[in-house]
Amino acid sequence: MVKLSGYKKVKAAVFISGTGSNLKSLIEFSKKKKSPISIDLIISNNPKAKGLKIGKMNKIKRKVYNFKKKYKIESQILYDLKKHQVKMICLAGFMKLLSRNFITKFKGKILNIHPSLLPKYKGLNTHQRALNNNEKYSGCTVHLVNSKLDSGKIVLQKKVKITKNETVKSLAKKVLVQEHKLYPKAILKVFNL
Ligand code: GRF
Repeated sequence: MVKLSGYKKVKAAVFISGTGSNLKSLIEFSKKKKSPISIDLIISNNPKAKGLKIGKMNKIKRKVYNFKKKYKIESQILYDLKKHQVKMICLAGFMKLLSRNFITKFKGKILNIHPSLLPKYKGLNTHQRALNNNEKYSGCTVHLVNSKLDSGKIVLQKKVKITKNETVKSLAKKVLVQEHKLYPKAILKVFNL
C-alpha cells in the first residue's frame, strides 16, 4: 500500500495526547534497520502529554496544537507535515478526531491503534464495556483511518483472554503490552514487509 522509495525510510509523524507508551515502542521500532519508517515529528493536542518528554529524550521535533479552531489548526499541521516531508501518520492515543478533509489529504496513510477487537467497542471506555458484556476475549486493533470513528480497514488484531477476576486496570495493562508489539507488526504489513 505504501511504497518504499529506494532504501530510504519513509518519514512518519506520531500524533499523541497522553502517556505515549505506544509512541515509545514506535520510536524503538523506527530505529531498527528493518523498520520502513523513521519518526520525524510528534504532534500533540495536549501540552502536558507525557509522550512529549519521550520525544524530547529521543531528540524528535515536537509540536503542540490547540484544537479549539480545528480547521485552522489542521491546515497548520498539514503545512508542518509537508515541511518535514512526512508521508505517513501514526495515531497513538490521539484523542481528537481529524476532519474528512485532513484524512483525504493522507488517504490510506494514517494508522490508528484501538484497544478493542474492532468492530466491537469503537470509541471510549472499551475495557469497561467488554467486561460489562462478559466477553471472553478482548484485544487491540491497528486500522487505517477513515472519516468514521474507529471504522477504517483493519490491518492487524491481537486477542487477549479475559480472566475471571479481570478489572479495567488489569485488562488495559494486558492489552497495552500487546499494542506495543502489534503496531510495529502492522507497519511492516502495510509496507508488505
Ligand atoms: C492505548 O490504549 C491506545 O490504544 C488508546 O489510547 C491508549 C494510549 O496509550 N487509543 P499510550 O499513550 O500509547 O500509552
